[in-house]
Parts: sequence; structure tokens; C-alpha cells
Amino acid sequence: MLRETRLTDPELAGLVDEELYRQEHNIEMIASESTVPVPVMELSGSVFTNKTLEGYPGRRYQAGSHVADKVERLAVERAKELFGADHVNIQSYSGSTANYSVFAAVLKPGDKILSMRLDQGGHLTHGSPANWMSGFYRHIFYGVDPDTEQIDYDELESLAKEQKPRLIIAGGSSYPRLIDYERISRISKDIGAYFMVDMAHIAGLVAAKVVPSPIPHADFVTSSTTKTFCSARSGMVFSKKDHARLLDKGTFPGSLGSIHLHTMAAKAWSFKYAGTEEFRRIMEQVVKNAKSLAKELEGHGFRIVSGGTDNHLLVVDLRSKGITGKMFQEALDSIGITVNKNMIPFDPENPSVTSGVRIGLTAITQRGLGEGDIVEIAEIMNRIADRPEDEAVLRECRADAQRLIGKFPLYPEGTFKE
Ligand SMILES: Cc1ncc(COP(=O)(O)O)c(C=O)c1O
Repeated sequence: MLRETRLTDPELAGLVDEELYRQEHNIEMIASESTVPVPVMELSGSVFTNKTLEGYPGRRYQAGSHVADKVERLAVERAKELFGADHVNIQSYSGSTANYSVFAAVLKPGDKILSMRLDQGGHLTHGSPANWMSGFYRHIFYGVDPDTEQIDYDELESLAKEQKPRLIIAGGSSYPRLIDYERISRISKDIGAYFMVDMAHIAGLVAAKVVPSPIPHADFVTSSTTKTFCSARSGMVFSKKDHARLLDKGTFPGSLGSIHLHTMAAKAWSFKYAGTEEFRRIMEQVVKNAKSLAKELEGHGFRIVSGGTDNHLLVVDLRSKGITGKMFQEALDSIGITVNKNMIPFDPENPSVTSGVRIGLTAITQRGLGEGDIVEIAEIMNRIADRPEDEAVLRECRADAQRLIGKFPLYPEGTFKE
């Protein structure tokens, strides 16, 4: 795959080899990661990257669009069928820009947005002061109930009635539970707000129908196409038919420029693949593995935020083990298990330290790891949590982690041979 790069830039080719080796030899458990199938890589690197086009099929601003039009129409039809949606815009470059295109479609500067707090599961692009977009709107946040650590729908409802936001957002980056879309949709309708669900994390699970779909309930559903959807680094937005023109205008020219035809082609492939039995089985196993890891860790004395998980990720409270998220992330990283530190609800630590970690099961499930292997991973994690600085323990755990992941190739043998 890197023939020309090896000839012209061996230094850079070496870095690709180094990253391939890292991914192959690590137990990758970052919740937003997955491994793209080879056709996604091929299409992302195809000649479609050469084409500049703005606008929509049949209404482009540049010539030479007839093939691109076929690609975009094919991707749109496949996406609509897969997700059972009235309308989809697949021009977004990522989950972040997918959100911006909805904001561009329905909001004016100064409008209010009600969304989930970042430190309790939301996302940066939903109104964090750290995100540049937050300056244009007024933000109010709902959170989780301190006892259940699940969304406090009563708080959400009273904030919505009091504050009358123009947009209510559900969905986030570290929320392990199902969301009551129906209830939030009712609340939104009652106050005349738009309802947007950001399903960036769970799109693959939704496509495979292993968790409920937000599409029947929301005005707009945004998503990354990476994460559980296992496709190109890109985005997509679904909407009700009535909002189709609004969404398309908010996307182009509202918030984006020319289309990325190469990732659009890769997404088209994935919209077909995600309808297969193979993909459905992987997604089903992702959830089984996540539930199994939650149970195993609980058995080792860890506390699982909200008491478990319904999707591909779990958030683990490490306080019972006397370590911080930062310490645990670093110790695990040193033995070849990749997770990320994460705030737990009402976390006494700051975001660069944290009391928890977020763990995702998608990438390792794609490689074929099942519940028996999860028992081993939980056991390794427990040994590390008990002695994060003991060199002998770290050495043993590294060997165990290597032996385990070594049984599950990242890609079939010979994939990258030239
Ligand atoms: C809920 C949510 N929305 C949006 C995004 C942004 O997606 P992207 O990284 O594709 O821009 C993320 C990324 O982690 C996310 O978790």
C-alpha cells in the first residue's frame, strides 16, 4: 500500500509501519476508536480525492461532476435505507462539523441550546466554553441524577420549560446508557424547540439495530462515521423530510466547502457493509463484551458508573482502588492496553487527572475477542490497578497482554504486503 511513499519518503513510511505495529500489538480500548475495513482505506485513498465539487448532485458549481453525482446519490440511498431515514446529508467532514451544520441550519447568534454537561457525558461541540462555537450561543446544561448516574429527565424538562431553548441536544461521548429519546422529543415539542441527537458514538449499534434508533424521534440526528460505525473519518446528518432543505443549506454553503468525495465513497461502502449479518454480529458482540467487562471489573472491586452499560463503552470509577484516571491510563498504556482518563459524574478531580477511565470495546471485538478474553483483560486491569508502579507486575502484565492480543490479527495476514 505504501510503495511510492517508501521510495520518496522512507522516514514517513517508517512512521506508518511504526503505527501499524503499535495498533497490532496493543489492546485498543479507546471508546471512539475502531478499525476500518480495507476497502474503506482503499476508497479513502482513491482518485476521488482529486475532484473539487461544491453543491449537490445535479446542482454543482463545477464541471466534471457526473461520476461524483452517482457516488453521492448511491451513498445517500444506501444511508437512508440502512437507517430508515427520510433524508440524509453525507457531506459533513466529521461528527463535529455535522453538529455545526445543524447549528447553521436552525440557530441564530444568541439562541439558547440545552445539552448534556461535558463532565457528565456530553461533548465539546455541544457548548463547552473551550469550543469556539460556544461564544455564538447561550448554553444551558442538564446532567445526571447523582444516585442513578443516568440522565435526570425531570431536571431536563424543568430547564427546558423555564429557559425555552431553541435546540435540545441528546447524546454524548461517555454516556453508557440508553437515552429516552421519546421523552426528550415530547419535551422539545411542548416548548417548540428543535431536537437533535448526536449519535456519533453509537451509530454502528444503531445501524445494526442492537440499540434503539433516535431517527424516528429527533428532528436531526448527527454522527461521526468512525467510532462504532467503523468507517472513514467523516460525518453524516439525518433529518425529517420537512427539514431537508434547511439541513442542506446549513451544510453547504452554511458551514462547509467542497465535498470530500474520497471519504464519501468510503462511507458508501460502509452503508452497504453495515447492513450485513457480519456487521450485525460484531455489533451485538461489542455490547456483550462491554457488559461482560463491566461485570468482571465490578467483581474485582471497581465501581462502574451508573452500575453498568447498554452500549459499547463503560466508565469506571477508580476511587475504590485509590488511583486516578491519569495513573491508570499511563500504567495501562505502558503494558499495551490503551484507554483514556475520563471525568466521572461529580468528579472531585480536575479533567487532566480525573477519577475515572472510559473503556470502549469496539476495536477489540472487531479483532475477534469474546467474553472469555474479556475475563483476562479485566484480570490484567485489576493487577495493574492494585500495583500501578510495580515493575515486576507491569512486566508480567505486558507479557500477558501481548500473548492475548497476539492471537487476534488486526488485519488478515498479507494485507499490507506489496
Ligand atoms: C458525541 C460526539 N459528537 C461529536 C464528536 C466529534 O466527532 P469527530 O471527531 O468525528 O469530529 C465526538 C467525538 O468524539 C463525540 O463523541
